[in-house]
Amino acid sequence: MTKDAVIQILKTEQGYVSGERISQELGISRAAVNSAVKALRDKGYEIDSATNKGYKLISYPDIISIGELNMYLPKERTAKVLCFDRISSTNDILREMAQKGVDEGQVVIAEEQYMGKGRENRTFHSPRNGGIYMSMLLKPKGSVLETISITAWIAVAVSRAIEKVCNIKAGIKWVNDLVLNKKKICGISTELSLMGESAKVEYIITGIGINVNQSSFPVELKEVATSISEVSGCRYSRAELVAEVIKQLDCLSQEWGTKKDEYLQEYRQRNVTIGNELRVIRGNDERVGFAEEIDDDFGLVVSYADGSKETVRSGEVRVRGLYGYV
Ligand code: BTN
Repeated sequence: MTKDAVIQILKTEQGYVSGERISQELGISRAAVNSAVKALRDKGYEIDSATNKGYKLISYPDIISIGELNMYLPKERTAKVLCFDRISSTNDILREMAQKGVDEGQVVIAEEQYMGKGRENRTFHSPRNGGIYMSMLLKPKGSVLETISITAWIAVAVSRAIEKVCNIKAGIKWVNDLVLNKKKICGISTELSLMGESAKVEYIITGIGINVNQSSFPVELKEVATSISEVSGCRYSRAELVAEVIKQLDCLSQEWGTKKDEYLQEYRQRNVTIGNELRVIRGNDERVGFAEEIDDDFGLVVSYADGSKETVRSGEVRVRGLYGYV
């Protein structure tokens, strides 16, 4: 899109850039440059124009667009990214694309979701301004059993991205919530599609919701959720963070099946579940136990008061001391 290309030129230049130069670089008319600048101003970009000098970018809004992502990712990568303003759920759109056979690595992003979905059929609060809502298509090789742990690998990949861009180390609550100050800053879902009757995985849709720059949450989430910005006192470029998440997930795709030890070690280091009392939730059933360790396949080993032990491989746990649980 023309305005994405124009913003990229203005962002790379420190000073003024003439309309003539932009039109030549992009092979478009001066009128097209003018209307792109107008469209950008309407979106919140502050662009000064001076006679005989051209255009200069003064400030820009925190939006996630292909133009912004192109600052951090090569164009061949952003060709597989779609940015929406308001949609039901990035998972739903990506699932439709996956069913039509879109390539591995396809990403769908939204500024706002009106039917954001969490795990276990919960809704995922996804208002505009401040959050990242994205889904990415992965096609890891392996059986369902082998692939179940990818959800933990993704938690490591996203926490690496947050650490790199925001310089803050998030903890991981089993199995893949990211946590700061005992509250949730990121939820991750993984949806598997199987090949016919076989136990082979056709594709995975991972949905990632990160609280980045929000300064407040609804009353019912105050004890449970926070944002990276609320904890650090800084604001971040969401586009830069999305780009880094994409890079880390691309790396994960390549490393899947070969770097298990590295991911496992980091998963254990970041874990905030071990050593705490917890409740293992299965439907309406809750069992109080103690989180002993993460086993070699990312399972959670839980011990119970009757002396028994089990390894939880899927489902939900509530950890005492996190998210306001007592
Ligand atoms: C959870 O913590 O329960 C998982 C939350 C996953 C939320 C993300 S936001 C982007 C993607 N689209 C959705 O509807 N859900 C996931």
